[in-house]
Amino acid sequence: MTGKVIIVTGANSGLGYEVARYLCEGGNDVIMACRNEEKANKAIEKIKRTNPNALATYMQLDLASLESVRKFVDDFHETGKKLHVLVNNAGIMFNPKDIKKQYTSDNFEMTMGTNYLGPFLLTNLLLDDLKTTGADGGDSRIVMVTSGVHDPEASKGKRIYRDLQPIDFDNFFLFDDDKYNGLQAYKNSKAAMVMFTYELAKKLEDTGVKINTVCPGNVPSTDLIRNSSGARKFVARVVYHGFLRFTKMTRTIAQGAAAISALATDEKFKEFNGKFFKEGVEVKSSEETLDEEKQKKLWEMSGGYCHMEGFEPIEVPPPPKEEEKVEEEEKKEEEAAAEGEEKAAEDGEKKEEEKKEDEEKKEEVVEEKKEEETKVVEEEKKVEEKEEVKEEKEETVVEKTEEEKKE
Ligand SMILES: NC(=O)c1ccc[n+]([C@@H]2O[C@H](COP(=O)([O-])OP(=O)(O)OC[C@H]3O[C@@H](n4cnc5c(N)ncnc54)[C@H](OP(=O)(O)O)[C@@H]3O)[C@@H](O)[C@H]2O)c1
Repeated sequence: MTGKVIIVTGANSGLGYEVARYLCEGGNDVIMACRNEEKANKAIEKIKRTNPNALATYMQLDLASLESVRKFVDDFHETGKKLHVLVNNAGIMFNPKDIKKQYTSDNFEMTMGTNYLGPFLLTNLLLDDLKTTGADGGDSRIVMVTSGVHDPEASKGKRIYRDLQPIDFDNFFLFDDDKYNGLQAYKNSKAAMVMFTYELAKKLEDTGVKINTVCPGNVPSTDLIRNSSGARKFVARVVYHGFLRFTKMTRTIAQGAAAISALATDEKFKEFNGKFFKEGVEVKSSEETLDEEKQKKLWEMSGGYCHMEGFEPIEVPPPPKEEEKVEEEEKKEEEAAAEGEEKAAEDGEKKEEEKKEDEEKKEEVVEEKKEEETKVVEEEKKVEEKEEVKEEKEETVVEKTEEEKKE
């Protein structure tokens, strides 16, 4: 029994659910911070079926809305509870081939907003609560659930990771990209979580609050791939989860959740601060996340995007409206068609020129042949003429000798 108050975001399914269930088993007061009440209540019922004494309560939180994050914190403060641990687990991932951009209510790109900026604000607004318990007992923790995808270099063997780039701070929400790549957005959000962990860890020194980040491993049986194609889901669920779960390539939900829960409450991890863990082992994160200048820059930008006190506010323009989007699409299609026509015309001209060149070449060849033929004919003529002259000479010689004989 640890008897701690622990907030777990996205606790109604997958890893978050299992973490909440496990922490309830440990006698903790678990606040299930979820966006969907019905799903959250079902999850709580399920936990209570096997553990009727579980202290699990639902509180509404939509990380894709800064207003909802602020309301959640107000609601939590109204409960008058202390806070020992915050597990930033909730997350979304779009299909790598998803080209349709989605936006949060604050106009952020959806993945970055949900996975990183929402948790950034949530954590900052709960920092004083965590510091209070940290100062009391010296053990208050924040766990950021990141992903190995944050480091494409580490998985460069895989085709889908090859094109992933470091975060471009001038194109933070990928709005400038013609083709939106859902996996790039996911990678960026998870790298941002790691950088946030390092930056906040420095600020938390000697406060009794520790922050660490963890990748739970590849857990194909959760709902994270809900936005993926049917084929990808089949590969994840049947091939990875079905056949490969006995290898080290994939993890079960229980194994992934154990890695997260351990960081939240295990004595073993009490003294760690600002570290990245992969399945229980401290490892090095990607190069870009280790860049201290970038960590600082990200911190300042994030505070600005979240309009937090003490930060220079950054406004994000609203996404194009549906009609504008349609117009944009149509314009793009027209441009593509015009380009196609131009190309076709160019191709036509090119073909004409090529045809002409071919014909000219053919004519040249015919003429060369003709010239050769006339040469041959002339040569033959010359030979014939020579032979005729020779014959004539021989004839006159014969005639002469005959005449001489007669004489
Ligand atoms: N599965 C893996 O292989 C893997 C690997 C590395 C890292 N992770 C990370 O692990 C975490 C948990 O993922 P999972 O695999 O357990 O997937 P999951 O089953 O889809 O769970 C994600 C949870 O996040 C919640 N959520 C999504 N958007 C939200 C929002 N706007 N506000 C509040 N909650 C929101 C979901 O709620 P709804 O049910 O209402 O959508 C759900 O409870 C994620 O951060 C993910 O990136 C997973």
